[in-house]
Amino acid sequence: MANDSSDLHSDFLVIGGGIAGLMFALKASAAGSVTVLTKAESAEANTNYAQGGIASVWSVDDSFDSHVNDTLIAGAGLCDRTAVETIVRDGPAVVRDLIELGTEFTRVSEHGEQEYDLGQEGGHSHRRVLHAHDFTGREIMRALGGEAARRSNIRVIENHVAVNLLIQPDPRGGRGTCWGAYALNKAAAKVSRFTAGATMLATGGAGKVYLYTTNPDIASGDGLAMAYRAGAPVANLEFFQFHPTCLYHPAAKSFLISEALRGEGAILTIPDGTPFMKRYHPDGELAPRDIVARAIDAEMKRLGLDCVYLDISHRDSDFVRRRFPNIYERCLSFGLDLTKQPIPVVPAAHYMCGGVVTDLRGRTSIKRLYAAGEVAMTGLHGANRLASNSLLEAAVMGRRAAADAVSAIENRTPPPEFRDWDAGSAVRSEERVLISQAWDEIRRLMWNYVGIIRSDLRLQRAARRINLLKEEIDSYYWAHFIDSDLIELRNLITVAELIVRCASMRKESRGLHYTLDYPDRDDVQTPRDTLIEG
Ligand code: FAD
Ligand code: SIN
Repeated sequence: MANDSSDLHSDFLVIGGGIAGLMFALKASAAGSVTVLTKAESAEANTNYAQGGIASVWSVDDSFDSHVNDTLIAGAGLCDRTAVETIVRDGPAVVRDLIELGTEFTRVSEHGEQEYDLGQEGGHSHRRVLHAHDFTGREIMRALGGEAARRSNIRVIENHVAVNLLIQPDPRGGRGTCWGAYALNKAAAKVSRFTAGATMLATGGAGKVYLYTTNPDIASGDGLAMAYRAGAPVANLEFFQFHPTCLYHPAAKSFLISEALRGEGAILTIPDGTPFMKRYHPDGELAPRDIVARAIDAEMKRLGLDCVYLDISHRDSDFVRRRFPNIYERCLSFGLDLTKQPIPVVPAAHYMCGGVVTDLRGRTSIKRLYAAGEVAMTGLHGANRLASNSLLEAAVMGRRAAADAVSAIENRTPPPEFRDWDAGSAVRSEERVLISQAWDEIRRLMWNYVGIIRSDLRLQRAARRINLLKEEIDSYYWAHFIDSDLIELRNLITVAELIVRCASMRKESRGLHYTLDYPDRDDVQTPRDTLIEG
């Protein structure tokens, strides 16, 4: 792993080292040199925190039709059927790839044979979630990261924050061509040019735009904001998924309690132990995520609660400890014993279903620029993502994009000249409080006005405040030397603005977007996708 760099050219530049970026890098490395940039240490990626697993048709009594159908139902009428079918059908091959690359999914002994254990999660009509206990993401990162480190033509450079894409304008006024990115070396406080024949944007999600999130700090929507600034269309950002169960404890920063617990029988209750989910949906705890999160929100508002409770204490303690070792240990460190007591949980922002629009080769509307994983929108998730479909989509699309990008570098056309990073008359930032205050305001206003329940009034208020903050942040950005906090803040305000714009366009309630002013679904007047041209 390298930690220093100046200007560098490679055949492929990958911005992001989670599952999408690493899958792309490993496949593309067969055709040329690859540079992978990560903005923090490699482990800091949403992928590393994934618990439940990766959904794929695996058992003989499951079928592609069934996985497709479950995905379409969760997506509430907005999935792109071709995308769903393509990604679901690629599932088993990509899982085999992960296994060949060294991922060890949990196995159980069935009739004397070792079979992969298949987890159950909300919205799935079959057990089809391959997992490594309850730390699937960490295991995938161990395997893919280890393999990338062994390949001599992959260079992973940590602690480098991509700032802007290098775009060659189209003389005919089209969208232009991407030749890499400017990136900030955090240790050296220096911005360099990373040029490449093909660039893969795999920067993950944007949970940090909300006050409460399951996401790690890296998830500030950098890729979405960079692509939008470069002119790529983005869409459906109103569909931000709130995971129903994040641990509610003052010392537990963003700790997810996997849906797989509900898959194994955990019950949601109010403080006196009364279950409530069946009042909201016949599938109870295993209803689609949007419904469970809204039900929890409604119960908390109805009773004035700070949290609800998740109870798996009726299951055998050995089974709970064996199946959920990570969650068990973590809860225990906060004095909560999963096997003996209900644990306090709240919903938190979890997953960005919309993103940079791509086709099924991972191509964006900008030549030589690809996107995959949480930053991208292929049409798989529609208005709501089915649990464990994101690791699947990221791995499938990383692989598909690499196959396509190989043709983009065939002629090894050299990139045009891009000027040095120009700091202009910028000075050192002395007032950090201006950054931290703006950061806090954005996340709080997004939580309060653009959260699980929205209304026209809330969205209008959010838009007004975001415009004001955007002006302040922009002028501060151009007047000061950039650092990673300032880069993230500028991206975060763009992400907030884009989410509010998409949410304001959708005059209906559907999937993850629920507004008090239009409580019903509207299949006639509301546009299918809330597209924003870059
Ligand atoms: P990430 O894994 O987030 O990787 C992003 C990479 O981009 C990082 O390396 C980061 O450093 C880099 N980066 C970002 N910005 C920049 C920049 N400006 N410059 C340079 N590098 C940058 N999904 C499932 O399917 N199953 C699950 O069980 C599951 N559990 C989850 C549990 C948690 C707690 C969370 C947070 C998510 C979970 N998800 C799950 C969602 C899933 O993990 C993510 O959607 C998926 O891992 C995203 O992968 P990715 O490769 O797109 O991005
Ligand atoms: C979980 O384990 O509950 C997360 C699964 C997901 O986000 O797909």
